[in-house]
Amino acid sequence: MFDLIIRNANLPDGRTGMDIACKDDVIVAVEAGITAEAAAVIDADGCLVSPPFVDPHFHMDATLSLGRPRMNASGTLLEGIALWGELQPIQTVDEIIERALRYCDLAVSQGIGAIRSHVDVCDDELKGVQALLEVRNQVKEYLDLQLVAFPQGGALRDPTAMTNTVRALDMGVDVMGGIPHFERTMTDGADSLRQQCEMAADRGLLVDIHCDESDDPLSRHVETLAYETQRLGMHGRVTGSHLTSMHSMDNYYVSKLIPLMVEAELHAIPNPAINIMLQGKSDTYPKRRGMTRVRELRDAGLTLGFGSDCVMDPWYSLGKADMLDIAFMGLHVGQLCSREDMAWCFDAVTQNSAKIMHLEGYGLDKGCQANMVVLQAQDKIEAVRLRANRLAVIRKGRVIAETPRQTSTLSLTGRPDQLDPAAYAPKT
Ligand code: FE2
Repeated sequence: MFDLIIRNANLPDGRTGMDIACKDDVIVAVEAGITAEAAAVIDADGCLVSPPFVDPHFHMDATLSLGRPRMNASGTLLEGIALWGELQPIQTVDEIIERALRYCDLAVSQGIGAIRSHVDVCDDELKGVQALLEVRNQVKEYLDLQLVAFPQGGALRDPTAMTNTVRALDMGVDVMGGIPHFERTMTDGADSLRQQCEMAADRGLLVDIHCDESDDPLSRHVETLAYETQRLGMHGRVTGSHLTSMHSMDNYYVSKLIPLMVEAELHAIPNPAINIMLQGKSDTYPKRRGMTRVRELRDAGLTLGFGSDCVMDPWYSLGKADMLDIAFMGLHVGQLCSREDMAWCFDAVTQNSAKIMHLEGYGLDKGCQANMVVLQAQDKIEAVRLRANRLAVIRKGRVIAETPRQTSTLSLTGRPDQLDPAAYAPKT
């Protein structure tokens, strides 16, 4: 007797008509025609069943603060950072907790099962750290929240950031963060990376650096990040987030840089919505897109995940915790338009991001955690095309969120009276 069986599921690897049996929080069988009984049964009816969405880059200490204390008038990254500096002293721990929990509700409803959130450590009271550690504990039964110690003001430029980073890690923050392009000089940026990577190596931590988030073609911090990763033997444990300067770099230099990144087994997290919104703002025309070289990094062998970065905060006033929106944006900005490329964009917000976060038990194999989302789409491409409805979100073998199937009622003479948006795709 199983706890749950999902019947007639299409899987991300292309298998169709599969049953997924769950017991004691894990997947115990994935095969066609399981005959055993279960306490609960979901008929997927040919819909795609995926492991949960994973957001590998977010700022939960700022989310849902849009308009407080004022709007970002210029819409620039730098005014956003200035605005965040105005909000920091006036927001309370309770306020951050309340906003973060509301965001987590939204994220779960959209099928997100794990989030890596940066948390600013430049506030000497560490209000964000206190708040998000509490939130991580409160949501752990339904959402994996991984926290990154992030010195928004610069690890060396802010006088107490390094001390506060140590405090935050001692309090239980999971991952080492950084922002070398925000230091006063390239040399300081490189020095900050060296210190952060050494501290992470000593503590056995993963690293995720806001790296070269600018349009400066001469920003070179990802080279240093690859060097430190290789020097310290941290292969596969270090991520460069954003990497937008790579969009503008000289092609010859990039032909040297990417092999260094491959050698270090760096991971990369572009954030398509925020990158296309914030980068290239000082250009006239032609206007740079600003997202990093997704196709080239992927084809070289790096693992890339798409992150959302911001939802309704000082930097970005839109967003709805929908990782398929992010995949859709990444697909367009990166011109990832072959069938294989489009399916890969789905992987970028699921399995690739899970690999970057080192999530354990992620996937749909026997023995994986029984965490899934049932989508109103038949395959990965259709899921991205429709930003498909999340019919059911399952955590540890239990349905924790449901959304009714989307249909429209038509009143057209001689035409069908019901329209299902998922019925338009070619059968693949
Ligand atoms: Fe970020």
